[in-house]
Parts: sequence; structure tokens; C-alpha cells
Amino acid sequence: MSRRAALGLMGLGAATVAAGTAGWITTSDGGRLEPVTGQPLRDPSEMRSGGGRLALELTAGVGTVLAGRRTQALGYTGSSPGPTLRVRPGDEIALRLRNELDQPTNLHTHGLRVSPEGNSDNPFLRIDPGTAFDYRITIPSDHPTGTFWYHPHHHGTVADQLYGGLAGALIVEGGEELAVSAEHTVLITDTTLDAEGGVVTPDPMQRMAGRQGELLLVNGQHQPAIDVAAGDVQRWRVINACSSRALALRLDDHVLTQIALDGAYLPAPAARDRVLLAPGNRADVLVRPTRPGTYALRAEPDDRGTTAMGMNPGGTATTSTTTLATLTVTGAETAPAALPATPVPESAPSGPITGRRQIAFTMGMGGGMGGNGPGGGMTFAIDGRPYDPVRTDQYVALGSIEEWTITNPTPMAHPFHLHVWPFEVLATSAATPPTGTLQDVVLVPAQGWARLRVPFTAQPGRSVYHCHVLDHEDAGMMATIDAR
Ligand code: C2O
Ligand code: CU
Ligand code: CU
Repeated sequence: MSRRAALGLMGLGAATVAAGTAGWITTSDGGRLEPVTGQPLRDPSEMRSGGGRLALELTAGVGTVLAGRRTQALGYTGSSPGPTLRVRPGDEIALRLRNELDQPTNLHTHGLRVSPEGNSDNPFLRIDPGTAFDYRITIPSDHPTGTFWYHPHHHGTVADQLYGGLAGALIVEGGEELAVSAEHTVLITDTTLDAEGGVVTPDPMQRMAGRQGELLLVNGQHQPAIDVAAGDVQRWRVINACSSRALALRLDDHVLTQIALDGAYLPAPAARDRVLLAPGNRADVLVRPTRPGTYALRAEPDDRGTTAMGMNPGGTATTSTTTLATLTVTGAETAPAALPATPVPESAPSGPITGRRQIAFTMGMGGGMGGNGPGGGMTFAIDGRPYDPVRTDQYVALGSIEEWTITNPTPMAHPFHLHVWPFEVLATSAATPPTGTLQDVVLVPAQGWARLRVPFTAQPGRSVYHCHVLDHEDAGMMATIDAR
């Protein structure tokens, strides 16, 4: 055993006794925590609304089980991911967020079409350590049902807090009951843990490229096992909750039937060999195994060309295929289950384009300090201006439908995300076929563009748009918008 590993065991022995739970921790030679692998997949615990209301308290704090080990990672009320919140259109979420971290935090309901103001989905709030805040989030009664999620959004600490483990699923349901054998939340995070179970801080170069953790986790587990009988059909609600990493998902020997993107049902189920999720994206997929065996769900290298930087080859792009989970199919070989009927999707609000804007992701040299800043000497901005919460970058008249062209002259892809006003992707330089539905994150290719149709038909208020490589967002690639 290496000296580092031995030290890790000694340190952890004490921690294990004190915590009184979780197993023994061993470390690999690199001084990294050895994950527990292959446990049955557990869905996060669920909290369901009743009588039009979901009242709960979440405490953001240090200490949670990740990869089967007790760690110093972050959790909501001790768990990562936090509980899955299940609500219905028209519900009110009454959520008390307690901050037991040593830095400010807040909460964002990613993708929900709710008010961005006051004590609703307000990204400008700051909840200081040792304090609590009462959110009241009203979900409109015409809100679509689908897969959303929540995570911290305090500018400057967002990437660290997600990488630490703070994220949870948020499901809007009601009306539709899909005829499936089972449903799973598949919330994917990544992080790097040292031998003592502490989260390893990425260096400035890793932040610049967008950090990639050594461990990819599903519901906080390392390569969990999913059991299914041949002939069954499962619905997976997949959420890319990684701070900065795109995921190209593939299931060995299977197609994934995608039925929804970013909480919106597709007009028709789409059979895909590969489902690409930028950070923040969600995909609901149906899995219909027919033949017994064990199959890996993999995250393949993503499409983001980044080596043009010449600074961190492969930095933003995942360079190797990683197993996320394994699917074990039991029973006798059979024909695939029939596809369950999926709800008719809402159509994006129609009407003429009332305005056009161009928005550019920009990076430049000159972070000062010879590259010791958060961006590795790079500045990250939108339209050349680093984020300033006081400045308003776009004024939009409520009720307008705008066409936005997001350009990306930089040598790395950036996922564009706009709060509370989802958009239709009309076209991109990657020639991705449009889905005809509203989504809230789109990957804008390096040296490319994406053209969006954005209906500002509801939710008056001031909010933000940003790069969902959260290292970039924290470094200033975010801007403000006021629609009223
Ligand atoms: Cu998922 Cu502004 O965030
Ligand atoms: Cu968001
Ligand atoms: Cu970016």
C-alpha cells in the first residue's frame, strides 16, 4: 500500500468511527477515494405535493455519501442528489433553504416557467452562511409536465457547489400516465474526491476548459446496476447535472427512444443511437430490452472541439468513454414491448417575430495575475462584457416573440441557457435537426452559432442567460435580461 493510501486509511478510520455509518474506505494509488461500484440503482428519495402545495426544508451542508463512501462532499439535507420534488401544474412550492455551507448559496429551479422575481426563482438572491430563506414558487396551471431540476445559482460558487454535489430532480407531473414497467431518475454528476473523501479543487486551467471530474455518478452512485426483464419498458429521466461536462449517452446494443427534451415531449418518439446532453439538458428516454445480458450505459467523448486552444488538449472534450451504469436484462428473449402512447406536446406560441438580437459568447486574454485567476488568465464574457448583476443587458417587451442568434467566435463550444423563457432552436451551425419544441439549453458549437425563437409571452421579471459550463458562468459568461 502506498504511503498516501495508508495515511488516507488512518484519517478515514477516525472519520468512519465518528460518523458511525458507511463502510471502510480504501484508496487507489493516486490518493483517490475508491468508489463502491455496481450497487443496485437507487432513485433519490421523493417529496410529492399534496393539496396544491409542496412544503419542505432543504439544508445545504457538508457531508454526504457519494459513490458508497462517506465524504466531505455537499448535500441537501445530507444527500446528493437532494430529494426529487414531484409537483403538479398550479402547485405552490414553499421551500425553506438553510445554508450550512461556509459560502453563500441560493436555489434555481432550472427550466421551470415561473416568476424570476422576489422569493421565486430569483438568481440574484444571496443566502449567507448560517441563514435561511423562504422560497415561494408558484407553478402556472398551464405549465407543461416534464423533467426539470434544481441547483445553486449564486454567481461565483455555482460550479463548485454542483461539483460538490448540490443538485436534485424536479418533476412536474399530472394528467399523463405513461404505460411503463418502471421509471427511474438518472441524475448524472461528476466530481473528483481525494483519499479522505474531500472534493478536489480544480486548477485554473481545468476551470478554463470546464472541469471534468474523475468520477461520473448516477444518483450519487458509481456505475450502479439497473435490472430489467426482457420485454419490459422503462422510462429514464436523464439529467445532465455535471458542472461543465457534456454527455453523449449510448446504451450498448440498444437504441434509446427519446420522448422528451428539457421537460417538453417531442412531437414523436425518436430512436437514437446516441443522446447528446449539454450541461443542464434533460432527456426522457424509453429503454426496451429484448435479450438477456449485461449492457453498459456509456458516456462517450463529446463533440466539443477544444484542442484549438492548444493549451489543454482534450480539456473540455471528454477524451475517453466512461461507463455510467450497467443494465442487466433477465428472462427469455422476446419482442420489444410496444411503445407507450406519449402525450401530445404543447406547440410553441405562434406569432410573428417582433425583434431580432445577436448575442456573442466572448473570451479574451488578460485575466491578469499570469493565469492564476479563475479563468486561467482568460476572461469570460458575453458581448465582451463580464457579468454585472446591476447592469441590465437586454430589455424585452413582455408578449414579444424574438429571434436570437447566439454566436460563438471562441475555440470551444458553450451551452447557451436562458432562465424561465424556453426557446425553440431553429437552426445551428452543427445542423442539428430542430425538434419543434421548447428547450432551455443549446450547445453552440465552437466558431459556430445557434438561431433561436424565444417567446417572451409570460413571466415578467429580471433574470439571466449564461453559458452552462458553470466554470465559465462563474468567471463572467453571464448577462441579465429584463422582460416586462
Ligand atoms: Cu441550470 Cu442558470 O442554470
Ligand atoms: Cu437555469
Ligand atoms: Cu462556456
